[in-house]
Amino acid sequence: MPKIKVLPHPEVCPNGAEFVAIKGVNICRQLLDQEIEIEHACELSAACTTCHVIVREGFSSLNEASDTEEDLLDRAWGLTAQSRLSCQAKVGDVDLVVEIPRYTINHAREHH
Ligand code: FES
Repeated sequence: MPKIKVLPHPEVCPNGAEFVAIKGVNICRQLLDQEIEIEHACELSAACTTCHVIVREGFSSLNEASDTEEDLLDRAWGLTAQSRLSCQAKVGDVDLVVEIPRYTINHAREHH
């Protein structure tokens, strides 16, 4: 079973976390099930970008991003080459290290 390690985030996961993940289920759902309250303003339907994560390890084991996801990611705060919408990225066979960015697109709109 793959594991997900979540790097510390000051608000949603101050001490970091590590848990056994379910293959084939998206990262966002699995974080929420662990009570890691990542933003998910469109209820996991690939329409909002608030669930952006950076997959520091295991990125290539995920399913491929759709064009819709890529378009939304272009608006993400702190976009990297390892960025995904966590509601669209399904866990494969490999352990993942996931970073929740400091800000979401909503914060960026409010404060910048
Ligand atoms: S929850 Fe909206 S894009 Fe993932």
